[in-house]
Amino acid sequence: MPGLLLDTLRGQNVRPRPAWLMRQAGRYLPEYRALRAEKGGFLALVYDPIAAAEITLQPLRRFGLDGAILFSDILIVPYAMGQDLAFLAGEGPHLSPRLAEAALASLDAVPERLTPIYETVALVKAALPPGKTLLGFAGSPWTVATYMVAGEGSRDQHVTRELAYRDPAAFQAIIDGIVDVTIEYLAGQIMAGAEAVQLFDSWAGSLAPAQFERWVIAPNAAIVTALKARFPEVPVIGFPKGAGEKLAAYARETKVDALGLDETIDPLWAHQVLPEGLPVQGNLDPLLLLSGGAEMKKQTLRILDAFAERPHVFNLGHGIGQTTPSEHVGELLSAVQGWQG
Ligand code: CP3
Repeated sequence: MPGLLLDTLRGQNVRPRPAWLMRQAGRYLPEYRALRAEKGGFLALVYDPIAAAEITLQPLRRFGLDGAILFSDILIVPYAMGQDLAFLAGEGPHLSPRLAEAALASLDAVPERLTPIYETVALVKAALPPGKTLLGFAGSPWTVATYMVAGEGSRDQHVTRELAYRDPAAFQAIIDGIVDVTIEYLAGQIMAGAEAVQLFDSWAGSLAPAQFERWVIAPNAAIVTALKARFPEVPVIGFPKGAGEKLAAYARETKVDALGLDETIDPLWAHQVLPEGLPVQGNLDPLLLLSGGAEMKKQTLRILDAFAERPHVFNLGHGIGQTTPSEHVGELLSAVQGWQG
């Protein structure tokens, strides 16, 4: 039974609108915090398929969501490529050795680090209610590379942007390596039961136009082409956060099936410039979900109205913040489900 979300990603303009929320599982839910405390940390949760499947399903038990997104992280790919990965309290993720100094060839790949993730996917798939869709995901090569090169998150990705200018051949090798592992990783998720996949490109917005073509569009196009050859029925959602005016070129050239929009994009503009019939996903400001109330509902309806004439998956423009009151999520989803447009 495909369901509203999968039908939309395949190009149908359905009512009611399907919805899921980026980071819908996580620290704003008390049941997540409880299981995380019991297992001792984020990575321990990700590597415990029973716990990770439970966390994937937690938000669906509470709210009328149409999709479950695999509970994992985009940095599992660098971990499988042989970097050490740690999530330090209050500091975010750390990868070592960082590729700003170490050569890619010095890493010893550990492909077994992907296997438990497929187990989580299979467990979720077996427990998923009919009509709900299981989404797999990976980071896009550019965003993953920014963490592999700098060893941590950074505000403007300058270490990686500079390497890409100074030594494009070395950086191309890093991107190519990530592309290959990502294709295998997403294929593994699909074979385990993922019905659609999303490519998260959180830092796509920091690149100059020619660099965006080379490091965002080209690698994502390669991933989409490879997945389509093997799984023509499985939709791929591209989410190039911050891409702004480059969104239309991204959609055309990568051939993603659906396009995720961040909250800086005006829905009326997006509807005008994007290819007719292309499904879009988004794009309520996560801070409006945090603040809630009448303004949240008003902006939600504005987004729904703007996309009435094309397939639309309702979502946020980025992940749910950890201090978001969970009641607001229920109120948001009632507004989406009540829209008749
Ligand atoms: O959407 C989902 O709920 C699926 C699971 C998911 C997580 N991370 C869980 C997570 C997904 C899709 C991601 C993607 C991810 N991870 C991205 C791209 C999307 C984005 O948010 O921009 C990036 C850049 C990462 C890297 C990452 N992982 C960072 C920077 C952090 C630390 C920030 C923080 O919130 O502490 C993580 C940790 C992380 N990944 C958490 C979760 C629920 C928090 C873990 C915890 O401490 O409990």
